[in-house]
Amino acid sequence: MLAAGQGTRMRSRRPKVLHALAGRTMLGWVLAALSEGGVERTVAVLGHGADEVAETLPEGVAVAIQAEQLGTGHATAIGLDALDEGATTVVVACGDTPLLEGGTIAELLATHARSGDRATMVTAVLPDGGAYGRVIRDAAGGVARVVEARDADPEELAVGEVNAGLYAFDRVALADAIGRVGSDNDQGEVYLPDVLPLLGGGVGALTAAPEVILGVNNRIDLAACEDVLRARIRARLMISGVTLTDPAGVYIDAGVEVGPDTVLHPGTHLRGATSVGGECEIGPDTVVADSEIGEGCRVVASHVHDSRLAAGSQVGPFAYLRPGADLAPGARVGTFVEVKNATLGPGAKVPHLSYVGDAEVGEGTNIGAGNITANYDGFRKHRTTIGARVKTGSDCVFVAPVTVGDDAMTAAGSIITKDVPAGALGIARAYQDNKEGFTQRAAERAAKAGREGAK
Ligand code: UD1
Ligand code: CA
Repeated sequence: MLAAGQGTRMRSRRPKVLHALAGRTMLGWVLAALSEGGVERTVAVLGHGADEVAETLPEGVAVAIQAEQLGTGHATAIGLDALDEGATTVVVACGDTPLLEGGTIAELLATHARSGDRATMVTAVLPDGGAYGRVIRDAAGGVARVVEARDADPEELAVGEVNAGLYAFDRVALADAIGRVGSDNDQGEVYLPDVLPLLGGGVGALTAAPEVILGVNNRIDLAACEDVLRARIRARLMISGVTLTDPAGVYIDAGVEVGPDTVLHPGTHLRGATSVGGECEIGPDTVVADSEIGEGCRVVASHVHDSRLAAGSQVGPFAYLRPGADLAPGARVGTFVEVKNATLGPGAKVPHLSYVGDAEVGEGTNIGAGNITANYDGFRKHRTTIGARVKTGSDCVFVAPVTVGDDAMTAAGSIITKDVPAGALGIARAYQDNKEGFTQRAAERAAKAGREGAK
């Protein structure tokens, strides 16, 4: 896999192949396709940002360093040196073609094995070949050579069949010929396709759908490829029984799993390591990242990060679940509620305008509107423990560390600084004093002052 180039046209500090599409790096997509397609051992040829790229490689992928980028042929020679002699067939792919699918690679390998050609390349027919290399066929219909767009004459440029940058080679023939490729071209580089006429045997071609071969050279290509990848992910889920009420408005990363009969509404983003059970309703306008959502949950207009929702729990609208929110079956987090590093027991409810952080809330407990667990004393975080079947009044603050026992209550407006025993009512506020007839007396005083002022 060739990935040593800088990707100048991306105008990025990051190596091109590390740009992400649908939650996976460009390189990650290519590597996944290679292994799905039956490639047994992969060597990544790295150069620009090699250390940064190498860190992202899955185990088992070897690295070969191309210190100077002298062309795709030069990069291939370096990759070949790192392959063991046992390999009979070598696939060369580019790290900047994230739309490659395992099926295409499997088909390439099967075609190559059947034909007995020295090489088989993947091509596609485009309405406009753009910057791709043009495939020049010989009289018998085999591949004679590839000419890069910048080196092509007008007649060659008019050819619609282009080089996808994906090949299967007979390893011995490739190793033998690659050293003989020159660099007499516009860029003065050693071009890999120039090895094709030097292999001493036939070169076949497998024509793939244009969509599969799209390469990323700039951010317009990046967006176009991401579009295709997202559409593929959506199609896979719809086929498996998930309803998308407006497919183009739903953004799902690679690797996200969604169970059957779940409905995803527009503005839903399912990111990272996320799984959603069956029979859920998610969205509209919801972001779920790195979270586990059980069966039959409902999440509306909310953000859920690194959290767990057990079966039948409900979130939103307008809730923010931060890392470590853990909802037991049937728990409910309502409107303008933030939950962080906190467990809600079965059926527990936090319906309105509250912050629950570093806390445990027991089974069946109801948190009143506008409650806050004051978990931070300016230096350290402390925990609040609220038992089962507790009812807290509106506008209570729990100054942690503090514990409220099972079946207890707290009065509205209380600042709870001391533990509340099980079954007790905790009340911590000034008692109300009513001044009878106050309004009348105040009005009379004001009227008298007015009369004296006028004298
Ligand atoms: C290449 C092909 C072109 C084909 C196109 C398909 C050549 C000369 N041209 O063109 O026929 O239509 O791919 O996408 O092969 N790389 C290295 N080391 C180098 C040069 C490149 O590792 O010295 C890597 C790049 O990082 C990239 C890949 O090889 O991942 C392709 O290189 P790039 O410069 O993008 O080639 P294209 O101009 O796209
Ligand atoms: Ca390219």
